[in-house]
Amino acid sequence: MPRPLPPYPTGWYAVGFSDELSTGALTHFAFMGREVVLFRTQAGVATLMDAYCPHLGAHFGHGGTVQGERIRCPFHGFEFDTAGTCQFVPYGTKPPKAKAHVYPLKEQHGLLMAYFCPDGAAPTWEVPTLDATGWSPLARHHWDFRGHPQETTENSVDMGHFPVIHGYTNVAELRDIVVNGPYLSTRYKMTRERAMLGRAVESEFDVHVHGLGYSFVDIVVPQFNWRSRLFVLATPTMGDKIRLRVAVSAHPEAFVPARIHPLLRFVPRALIFNAAFKGTFKGIRHDVSQDFKIWQNKRYLSPPMLAEGDGPVGKYRRWARQFYPETNAPATASC
Ligand code: FES
Ligand SMILES: [Fe+2]
Repeated sequence: MPRPLPPYPTGWYAVGFSDELSTGALTHFAFMGREVVLFRTQAGVATLMDAYCPHLGAHFGHGGTVQGERIRCPFHGFEFDTAGTCQFVPYGTKPPKAKAHVYPLKEQHGLLMAYFCPDGAAPTWEVPTLDATGWSPLARHHWDFRGHPQETTENSVDMGHFPVIHGYTNVAELRDIVVNGPYLSTRYKMTRERAMLGRAVESEFDVHVHGLGYSFVDIVVPQFNWRSRLFVLATPTMGDKIRLRVAVSAHPEAFVPARIHPLLRFVPRALIFNAAFKGTFKGIRHDVSQDFKIWQNKRYLSPPMLAEGDGPVGKYRRWARQFYPETNAPATASC
């Protein structure tokens, strides 16, 4: 019987987009098998906290409120700061010492990224800060389904499925996979029919994977100097369910629409850029959803029976072991 993957590997995971969480807002959802609340204080600090109050267990997400820089429990009105420390009890007595667990949280390039480690240890690595200058705002989409972040991320190195599932042609690795601690990168190219305003295009993919919850892919279409960036963000929620978010941005600067069709030189650039961006986003949503039937119904085989032409799946899986410190892991950079 193949050993199933532990459901909640360590690492950084998206819990939302910055512009979805306004000042004073509070929301709740499942994250890594736990109930959590996400809120933003009046000063703008986003905080991800376990949802159950350490006093007598009320759920902050059902009636809790943001009060200045604190969250107020709906049951007895105790207030906790963004470190999870109880700072106020309405009885006029000393607050108890119990703390609510708070997850390390970062906001960068419009994403809310939280760090998870089963024992609550602080992160020893970060996701990179990217220069967003000149990039368009993120278009985004998400799906909830039965899956696992190791399996969705494995797609990036699984060369064999690209023609079969997605219909890509001329798939070729442009360099070997590189691993460095929690970071993995690879580069390949492929052709997609009718990908850009009806034209077949060859695209080059620079894949940057930082743990199992955060990847971005710089996609270049050299023919038109089209540059887009795709974030792929798989976050375990409860049991074997994940929320898979994709977010796409594009950079208009070098784009040459006239290479798609000479008459496009007479059309305002912004119009063509927007049409190309919409087409790119639609294509990505379509392509990702093609994997669903496989992801939702597959089982994890360990070891798999690999063949030449699969791509570096074996190397990827050895790299991924570091995110399960509780099960083994020869190399562990995770907690
Ligand atoms: S359960 Fe939260 S204040 Fe009592
Ligand atoms: Fe795929």
